[in-house]
Amino acid sequence: MDLLEKVQKAKNYITSIDNCKFDLAIILGTGLGSIVNDIENKKKIKYKDIPGFPVSTVVGHAGELIIGDLMGKKVLALNGRFHYYEGYEMSEVTFPVRVIKALGIEKIIVTNAAGGMNPDFSAGDLMIIEDHINLMGNNPLIGKNYEEFGPRFPDMSEAYNKDLVNLGKSCAKKLGINVQSGVYAAVSGPTYETPAELRMLRNVGGDAVGMSTVPEVIVANHMNMKVLGISCITDMAIADNLKPLDHAKVVETANRAMVKFISLVKEIVSNM
Ligand code: HPA
Repeated sequence: MDLLEKVQKAKNYITSIDNCKFDLAIILGTGLGSIVNDIENKKKIKYKDIPGFPVSTVVGHAGELIIGDLMGKKVLALNGRFHYYEGYEMSEVTFPVRVIKALGIEKIIVTNAAGGMNPDFSAGDLMIIEDHINLMGNNPLIGKNYEEFGPRFPDMSEAYNKDLVNLGKSCAKKLGINVQSGVYAAVSGPTYETPAELRMLRNVGGDAVGMSTVPEVIVANHMNMKVLGISCITDMAIADNLKPLDHAKVVETANRAMVKFISLVKEIVSNM
């Protein structure tokens, strides 16, 4: 089936369950899943029930779409994302973003867990993403371009909307959260980085490193959506002082930062 048709089918299924006009979408990364508890008048749709949706496999990542009210806004939250390292095609990783746009949503908040490469950061910090570097070795827009979605050569001069970046910073300030900002360098994973890789990633301008987000942000930009990205810095990824890292540690730090992360996202949503 053609991508346009597939997106339309998924959209039709979602609107058959709830035909409301959404204000924004949120992709929930590691540690932010519990924000679902704050969404009122919820409807949950399992990914496996949505035609064309891939199904997530990583422990700690649920696989459902949540529709409801958050801070007075109609939101669509994706609880569980598809990672390139799981073996999904880039078109699958980014399929939900195509569907979000088809639902008429123009603004998206994308969240993730990332390693901190900027020595001014600490584990547990939140970072507003100001820009990214795609080092995943692939790009979701390679292949046939669908002019219905966007141009062959999309502009990326403001991949992360400046107004939303400023909103993120001002909301953090209002809440007394000491938020960082910087450049997210995306790698494919699933390996964490070697010290030599971290030295390179820092040297090319990365403040944080992670294995997600960039495909979704590229596709959102292809469709002219406004993007806000926030990373939870779950570990320090500094070449000269690198400690062994595992996924459990990432999840543990993300959970420690969860309350702060949720309150920041809620404040941003209420002002979007
Ligand atoms: N590297 C890559 N991805 C990550 C990291 C990291 O240190 N922490 C969380 N996601």
